[in-house]
Amino acid sequence: MRTPIIAGNWKMHKTVAEAFTLVEEMREELAQIQGVEKVLCPPFTALYYISGLLQGTDIGLGAQNMYWEEKGAFTGEISPQMVRELCQYVIVGHSERRKYFGETDETVNRKVKTAFEHGLTPIICVGENLEQNEGGLTEEWVSGQVAAALDGLTGNQVKTLIIAYEPIWAIGTGKPATGPGANAIIGKVVRGTVASLFGDQVAQAMRVQYGGSVKPDNIVEFMSQPEIDGALVGGASIVADQFVAITQRTAETKASHG
Ligand code: PGA
Repeated sequence: MRTPIIAGNWKMHKTVAEAFTLVEEMREELAQIQGVEKVLCPPFTALYYISGLLQGTDIGLGAQNMYWEEKGAFTGEISPQMVRELCQYVIVGHSERRKYFGETDETVNRKVKTAFEHGLTPIICVGENLEQNEGGLTEEWVSGQVAAALDGLTGNQVKTLIIAYEPIWAIGTGKPATGPGANAIIGKVVRGTVASLFGDQVAQAMRVQYGGSVKPDNIVEFMSQPEIDGALVGGASIVADQFVAITQRTAETKASHG
């Protein structure tokens, strides 16, 4: 049995003061939900403060990115130690980083390896764009991203990481994939690729989230799918009652399907 995991990717939203309010609004209710791993990924500037707010709860903290070097003259970057001091997770290779900030399969792979060297659990994002989807290239593209991100890892590492399958056409558009559609890609392509590289046992142990326009009213459709182990939530993660509802419904749906 894989424990479902709901992570909130706040993106570039919330000052420290606003982050305080948002965490206060949802912390208690979130902490009461059992059977789901819960993770908040606020901007870097709010991490230190929020790590204090989450102390004594079972809510985890993640960064949205990090650099692979440990220290040095890399103006504007954040090192793995800096992240590790505060967080347990790090999002790597989000499509917005690939699109706007030059993230490549190679830099994603370096960051994933760095995460493991520093005891962080990477949440690795993959997914095809609309053109690739319509051109029938989804399987080849997603499989390539998965293989590249995991290059050089051990099976034991792959078992513990998280992949977020996020079709780019579904992110922030209000047009999510369908549950069965996402389930098929995750089962056949994401787990299939991992199975071919690391064996079936590893592929079955690894957790895979769906991401892209996840809301309280569609989370049950995704969580009813056997291959989908949770969600990476953007817009709805910065609305307290929506993020709580998504987490709650995940717990209920997975409990009844388990
Ligand atoms: P969204 O974003 O939920 O706002 O579509 C998801 C993501 O980018 O991780």
